[in-house]
Amino acid sequence: MNQFAKDVLDGLSATPKRLSSKYFYDEIGDKLFQRIMSLDDYYLTRSEYEILSNSKSQLLKIFGAQKTPFNLIEFGAGDGYKTKVLLKHFLAQNADFKYIPIDISGNVLDILETALKKELPDLKVKGIQNEYFKALDQLDKSNERNVVLFLGSNIGNFTGDQATTFLQGLYDSLKQGDILLIGFDLKKDPNVILKAYNDREGVTRDFNLNLLNRINNELGGNFNIDKFKHHPIYNPLTGTTTSFLVSTEEQTVEIMDKTFYFDAWEAVHMEISQKYDLKAIVNLAKEAGFKVLNNFYDEKKYFVDAVWQK
Ligand code: AVI
Repeated sequence: MNQFAKDVLDGLSATPKRLSSKYFYDEIGDKLFQRIMSLDDYYLTRSEYEILSNSKSQLLKIFGAQKTPFNLIEFGAGDGYKTKVLLKHFLAQNADFKYIPIDISGNVLDILETALKKELPDLKVKGIQNEYFKALDQLDKSNERNVVLFLGSNIGNFTGDQATTFLQGLYDSLKQGDILLIGFDLKKDPNVILKAYNDREGVTRDFNLNLLNRINNELGGNFNIDKFKHHPIYNPLTGTTTSFLVSTEEQTVEIMDKTFYFDAWEAVHMEISQKYDLKAIVNLAKEAGFKVLNNFYDEKKYFVDAVWQK
């Protein structure tokens, strides 16, 4: 049984039921997420794009101080929409750098590399298909400084403990002087946050429901997605947005010879998207061992890209 099947069966046998948002990203999920990123209600991508556009010169000064060569390593690059702002600027400034996107999906990397070779022919790009830390171990142990990009508030899909463990692991795989540029979504008007996860066009709803379709297609499940409702909540005390799928009636679902019973209005935990304040971010840097070098904000202070150093 593959890991996906195991996690789905375990999650739906648990109380409360849960599914992991890391499985949102099949081919259809990738496309839905692309659409989410361009929605009016989903402010995160726009905010971070603004930060990178306005801070690209300062970032280059930090990354390639005294024109030293560096590896620009990106975790979960996707289509590189935001990163291209940096890549274009760094190329125009004749910076000495290699771009190394890392993704577990070879397909995502192929598409990105082909597009970049066409659009930015002077860019030195070499993707690595692997898990993040394994890919870092694979890098040749040259003297070049590593600059890791972990953008898009991807850290927000981890719980606090997971985020700390992840960043400690990252710290351990880096050399002294290496840099991390990491994007955090900030606490703000709860209505603004909630709308980003309950958009008017219903794309986020479809994004969540798509995981039920994926289970149907890949594991032979028989979810009726019309009988589940997308329901996100935001807790301003903890800064956590939690998304649920709620069963609108009593029903059973069969997956791989197993039957799962859903009560009317029973919820399945799907995803958390953590929102931070600066104190919590500084704390996280400290817990993982990093030194905070700088924080770059968008004009509305919706988002921050933090620069940390080992
Ligand atoms: C990828 N991640 C940072 C997104 C987020 O905002 O938590 C995933 C997402 N879920 C619903 N909309 C977008």
